[in-house]
Amino acid sequence: MNISVLNKIEEVKKTVKNWKKDNYTVGLVPTMGALHKGHASLIKKAKETCDRTVVSIFVNPVQFSPNEDYDKYPRTLQKDTQLCEELGVDIIFAPSVEEMYGAGNMLSNTALTFVCPPYNLIDCMCGKSRPGHFDGAATVVLKLFNIVSPDYAFFGQKDAQQLYIIKKMVKDFNLDIKIQPCPIVREDDGLALSSRNTYLSEQERQNALSVSQTLFKIRELYNQGITDTKILTDSAFTILNQNIELEYLEFRDFDSFEKVIAAKSNTLVAIAVKSGKTRLIDNIIL
Ligand code: PAJ
Repeated sequence: MNISVLNKIEEVKKTVKNWKKDNYTVGLVPTMGALHKGHASLIKKAKETCDRTVVSIFVNPVQFSPNEDYDKYPRTLQKDTQLCEELGVDIIFAPSVEEMYGAGNMLSNTALTFVCPPYNLIDCMCGKSRPGHFDGAATVVLKLFNIVSPDYAFFGQKDAQQLYIIKKMVKDFNLDIKIQPCPIVREDDGLALSSRNTYLSEQERQNALSVSQTLFKIRELYNQGITDTKILTDSAFTILNQNIELEYLEFRDFDSFEKVIAAKSNTLVAIAVKSGKTRLIDNIIL
């Protein structure tokens, strides 16, 4: 089957309905496009797991703050379509903002119903510097779930806080969807792939390498038996490049999302920084 690029919600619903009549399982990979090898790994996992694969490509305005990069976010639909076709994706769902949120673009929670994730999950880490971001991301993901009715949905561990919030939403809303987490894909030199890496100058990219190196150092020390997160943090900071602006480095239990004082198995070590003007996130799980 050739790939179809659908822009209309009703077209997607109709196609999926026909698939379900044939008892096909459906996998959804939600993305904002500018696809790279990280996205490709999610798509490959979906292809392995499900009979039919839908990739959504939608730069979701309601998860960006007014001062963020919504306007300049890379939009590369033609290239993305080619990659999806090579990977055997069945449908790309690429709606307009009007199609997703209705005419008039009243994109605030005074005009739209929003998902409101638990406060303790959004008032920390990325949620602190990006107010409203996770409400917007969870809202669009719930809409995509309702449009595509997937059996499985695939999310990268790269956005660990988002992954946790989506899993929580699925549980709290009793959604019949299995969330499949996928490991972080990195460049050979350790930099986590991100659509925003294209913003980096050569020097900023070079400086950003110290972000994953910091995390790898923490893992090394933890493997040597050091669990005190203060000691781990202090020693790791000797690695972070001086030109990198740190937003946070946090240790959280990846089952409960509680802060961790003594690192243990399944501790998420998450970092957010700015290299130049570009905000980058990365993490490891111990
Ligand atoms: P986007 O940043 O395009 O990411 C889409 C998916 O790809 C997310 O689940 C993300 O964690 C995963 N991903 C990105 N880089 C990755 C990497 N290096 N390795 C593995 N997976 C990676 O996340 C979003 O879009 C949006 O918030 C979205 C969920 C689509 C809602 O708008």
